[in-house]
Amino acid sequence: MPRSKIAGIGMYVPEKIITNNDLLQYMDTSDEWIQERTGIKERRFAHRTNETTTTMAVEAAKIAIERAGITPQDIDFIIFATLSPDYYFPGCGVLVQRAMQMKEIGALDVRNQCSGFVYALSVGDQFIRSGMYKNILVIGSEKHSFGLDFSTRGRNVSVIFGDGAGAVVLQPTHEENQGILSTHLHSDGEAAEILAMYNPGTHANHWGTHNYASFDDAEIGNMFMSHTMIDNAQNFPFMDGPAVFKKAVVKFPEVIIEALTTNGYKPSDLQLLIPHQANLRIAQFVQQKLGLTDEQVYNNIQHYGNTTAASVPIALCEAWEKGKIKNGDLVCLAAFGSGFTWASALLKW
Ligand code: ACO
Repeated sequence: MPRSKIAGIGMYVPEKIITNNDLLQYMDTSDEWIQERTGIKERRFAHRTNETTTTMAVEAAKIAIERAGITPQDIDFIIFATLSPDYYFPGCGVLVQRAMQMKEIGALDVRNQCSGFVYALSVGDQFIRSGMYKNILVIGSEKHSFGLDFSTRGRNVSVIFGDGAGAVVLQPTHEENQGILSTHLHSDGEAAEILAMYNPGTHANHWGTHNYASFDDAEIGNMFMSHTMIDNAQNFPFMDGPAVFKKAVVKFPEVIIEALTTNGYKPSDLQLLIPHQANLRIAQFVQQKLGLTDEQVYNNIQHYGNTTAASVPIALCEAWEKGKIKNGDLVCLAAFGSGFTWASALLKW
């Protein structure tokens, strides 16, 4: 049975840099507060109308496909992870298929937020291992700047996120010292509402999220989005930051150790850990807990903020472009996010 290897990787971030100080025009915050709590200095924001989650994905995909030495017409499956799709439906996968003039291949959309890319990679890995597909395009892309509360009310969330996209092409390999060794997926829905965007949705307050949705002025058939919801800013993401922190610092190390022990490795064997860029403090906590050196962990949240499903492929691509990953290196990708869901992938580059 073949393993899957990353045959090509690409990333795209919008040109527009938004520093912490740039945010002061919208909200009461400070560069000091943001850097101290999150490590973020700046992030990229997509052009309001010319760039979408899909167009950024296409730019990243073009690079990944070219580096894999193939053309868009060679791709036989698309897996697209995002929480900020161009449309509520259909998903972004078909928009990539259209924009890149691909054949009438399957296009799957993955909704696992910060863990989305690692989940998507795991799905692609299974299709390669089974022999079903030979060239799979796996994408993580987000346009967060479009849907956050940039008033002081939403500052605990909006200062964290940025826009961008990353993509890889998976292909089969029979090389002993190459490819994805294993992937590990987990979830715990107990905390589903701790990091979530409730509206628009069909929940109708069923789960007790009444503080975040008002259906009073909505009629049957028109409950998706109400005027009250918009007036009360209930159409923005909610996050209980400290609760997320507590869970993340337990589950990140757990899923990394799971990947390593499954394959007979220990943390010191790792050449590079690419953690989802949730927050620099979380990544530093994980590094310390696993006893990893600075050289063993790659972080770039300082410059891009948290790009959710795009953060792992962007960090992986940047690390590779900087020459930090060489053939045969042991690399671990790990993510934790809304759901909660968490996941890891261990691979030999
Ligand atoms: N600027 C200035 N002050 C702020 C800001 C801001 N952007 N945001 C919140 N504050 C204020 C609050 O109003 C509050 O003030 P008060 O004490 O007068 O009421 C104070 O700062 C502390 O607020 P908390 O929400 O408790 O902030 P906390 O110290 O927990 O830091 C943070 C928030 C950085 C989000 C932290 O909880 C954290 O690191 N959480 C981990 C979750 C995370 O990083 N999520 C990333 C996205 S999710 C993911 O990718 C998994």
